[in-house]
Amino acid sequence: MPHSRVFFALPPPLAVSEALGRLAVTLARRAQGRATRDDSIHLTLAFVGEVEAAHVERLVAIGARVAGVPFDLVLDTVGGFRRARVAWLAPSVASPALRDLQQAIADGLAAEGFAREARPFAAHVTLARHCKAVTGDAVTCETPVTWPVRHFALWQSRDEALGARYREIARWTLRGG
Ligand code: 2AM
Repeated sequence: MPHSRVFFALPPPLAVSEALGRLAVTLARRAQGRATRDDSIHLTLAFVGEVEAAHVERLVAIGARVAGVPFDLVLDTVGGFRRARVAWLAPSVASPALRDLQQAIADGLAAEGFAREARPFAAHVTLARHCKAVTGDAVTCETPVTWPVRHFALWQSRDEALGARYREIARWTLRGG
């Protein structure tokens, strides 16, 4: 039975992925890691994991039922997860709209019988992986990035020789109201 490794995420608009990509190069150099490619940059809302290909349609239906509002997210803090050896950029201020969107997806998944994620939601954008010198301390970013969030998406992850690459399965517009 074919399987897909899938997750719900915020896909950045081009200008944001370019700005984050530049920052990724700086952070990767500092942390002695590998920068995330511009076209792989995202903020994970809900990691689903391996599902049978036949279940992907159910996930698309869950996404289609989620109503979220558009919002702007200010990413202004850099930090890292030591154990995962990643460096990230994150918002210092919790966004209620982001929280509500993430919760609506998590509720939709639970209602359809998908396992709840063990770890609590911690909004972050991974910008470097395989870091040798990752620090767990969060500090203010000298070049904060404002991300106008207008969509969320379902992405599929495929492991390739030079790290994970992603394919977008579906995308929904945050319309509000
Ligand atoms: P990361 O960026 O912090 O590594 C695709 O792998 C996305 O899902 C990545 O953004 C990754 O987070 C996240 N992810 C991978 N495995 C996960 C897990 N077991 N639980 C939660 N999120 C996970």
